[in-house]
Amino acid sequence: MVHKNILITGSNRGIGFQLCKQLSQLNTTGNIIATTRSGSNSCDLNRLSAVNKKIKVLAFDTTDYTRYDRFLDDCHRIVGNRGLNLLVNNAGVMARDSLMSVTPDSLNDNFNVNSIAPLMVTQKLLPLLKMSANYGDPTAVVNISSTLGSTVGRVEAGKQYYPYRISKASLNMITKLLAYDLSEDHIRVIAVHPGWVKTDMGSKQALLEPEFAVKSLLKVILNIDSSLSGKLINYDGKVLQL
Ligand SMILES: NC(=O)c1ccc[n+]([C@@H]2O[C@H](COP(=O)([O-])OP(=O)(O)OC[C@H]3O[C@@H](n4cnc5c(N)ncnc54)[C@H](OP(=O)(O)O)[C@@H]3O)[C@@H](O)[C@H]2O)c1
Repeated sequence: MVHKNILITGSNRGIGFQLCKQLSQLNTTGNIIATTRSGSNSCDLNRLSAVNKKIKVLAFDTTDYTRYDRFLDDCHRIVGNRGLNLLVNNAGVMARDSLMSVTPDSLNDNFNVNSIAPLMVTQKLLPLLKMSANYGDPTAVVNISSTLGSTVGRVEAGKQYYPYRISKASLNMITKLLAYDLSEDHIRVIAVHPGWVKTDMGSKQALLEPEFAVKSLLKVILNIDSSLSGKLINYDGKVLQL
């Protein structure tokens, strides 16, 4: 599956940066819109975009809803009327809170970044996604989720992550709803679990190197067929229970 124009949120570090890097090395990719909310944290991304002109860096805090109209215009200018083939909702945060420490603020914050923003970004960019789909080009939305948001996942694994787990469970439901609503438009929507990855969020103790996790993820992302839409898929391609 060829994804020409791609947008990845939270591209300045971790999984988002690695996605950007590996996608930019493929002959099949066109423009890669790499969004970052913090210029000062984006040294690696700025270096990468300086040597690879496919990568267009846009400043974008996914929770700054007042900027969405301008963001859509900027993206449209970059992708043109051929539209957006692939949107990766990657930006995420993880609050460490158990039953006794969880607060409305930490719940709201995780819910805002991990659930509301991916839905609102998708809603805002729909005209560009539909342009791509109307050309008959493969078009997809990928939500970077987690097995911690699966309702059949082990409760004891990570029960200190109330806000994160609740917000990722919500993202999984958003994935199902979007997949259903956008099927007539031929836009596929999946949630993926990248594995436990060595990033700032995953920590140094994690099992997977970002290079390996993303290489595996890309095999999934670049081969989404309609039968997978609405599903939660592991980095190794296994379909997981939502
Ligand atoms: N690492 C793992 O083991 C693991 C496992 C399962 C799922 N995931 C998911 O994978 C995704 C990427 O995680 P990661 O491990 O790469 O984490 P990370 O290294 O902590 O990176 C998180 C990224 O999200 C960005 N971000 C956070 N809030 C944002 C906002 N409001 N607007 C725009 N960007 C924002 C961060 O930008 P700043 O630099 O500006 O903060 C950063 O680029 C997340 O959705 C995470 O939940 C990770």
